[in-house]
Amino acid sequence: MRSDPSTGAAAVLPHDERPAHLLEVDGLSVEFQTRDGTVRVVDDVSFALREGETLAVLGESGSGKSVTSLAVLGLLPRPAGRIVSGSVRFRGTDLTALDERQLRELRGERLAMVFQDPQSALNPVMTVGDQIGEAARRRRRLSRRAARAKAIDMMRLVRIPDAERRVDDYPHQFSGGMRQRAVIAMALALDPDLVIADEPTTALDVTVQQQIMSLLRELQQSRGVGLVLISHDLGVVAGAADRVVVMYGGRVIESGPLRPVYDRPAHPYTVGLMRSVPEAEGDAPLVPIPGAPPSPADLPTGCAFHPRCPLAADRCRTEIPPLQPVGPDRLSACHYAEEVQRDGVPVQPAG
Ligand SMILES: Nc1ncnc2c1ncn2[C@@H]1O[C@H](COP(=O)(O)OP(=O)(O)OP(=O)(O)O)[C@@H](O)[C@H]1O
Ligand SMILES: [Mg+2]
Repeated sequence: MRSDPSTGAAAVLPHDERPAHLLEVDGLSVEFQTRDGTVRVVDDVSFALREGETLAVLGESGSGKSVTSLAVLGLLPRPAGRIVSGSVRFRGTDLTALDERQLRELRGERLAMVFQDPQSALNPVMTVGDQIGEAARRRRRLSRRAARAKAIDMMRLVRIPDAERRVDDYPHQFSGGMRQRAVIAMALALDPDLVIADEPTTALDVTVQQQIMSLLRELQQSRGVGLVLISHDLGVVAGAADRVVVMYGGRVIESGPLRPVYDRPAHPYTVGLMRSVPEAEGDAPLVPIPGAPPSPADLPTGCAFHPRCPLAADRCRTEIPPLQPVGPDRLSACHYAEEVQRDGVPVQPAG
């Protein structure tokens, strides 16, 4: 079943007052050819991002977050990976129908990506300033001088101190947090409409993570860019996102506006994710989710989460729960979504 991510909003606002969608991913499925055959790693994923909104995509390692974002940007490793169904509409244009040249054009101008590891996104033998200014030089035909001035402006924007001096530094002269700021400056240099940040703070310590998150949030608001924030840590994105999509085993298992999902999750996996990271407020004990996330090559039958779920019943072992509305603008793929929302989920004893 295809879900319509706009259903909830339609119920709240009349059609012509609804903010337009910047990005609409509908029924996206991605397969990889591996030595063990064809593996579906993203399965019927739908979500939407309105103009100027921040969407968090959450899930454990291997849940398909990065593959989804690579597919959105047309960056899947070829020929192993391919989109087998679904569409990715950016301001109404289906990106899956564009050729490589058109995609590259869009990625330079309108879409930008911030990767997990700033180390690999930066060229070690080029100054930070040259790298930030390069796209502007190439695409806007700026002189060296103008590109350098642009780089300094961008470095100020992302609050790299002493920008005039540091513009000529090499990446290794920057701390991890400053490198990630430089990568964000690169991504924003051409004023994109959409930025996808894939675990932009994972390699950083907690304080620096918070600083980078506030920076992203602030830039998103001041520049009106749409932001997709990918993370495995609900705590990290809680203060920055408007909406959240939770993935498990390549599927969306819950989605909705951040606060209501955070306050009353409607899927036991979302509850587990929340218990496994430190809370912003309160001091509830950390409880890891027992077991390990499944391999997409070998998904459990029925609900893929059932082997780890404290509420699993017979039905969960055989029937895949469809994503269904569980409140305004909210969806959950749990047979017991209502009960979870109402009563919560018991904490599972360790072991
Ligand atoms: N090039 C590839 N070939 C085959 N399988 C792949 C390839 N890239 C990713 N996968 C598989 O696709 C699944 C989803 O991977 P993905 O990188 O999207 O996970 P993720 O949610 O981003 O995890 P993490 O939090 O570790 O970054 C994983 O099982 C992974 O092994
Ligand atoms: Mg990833």
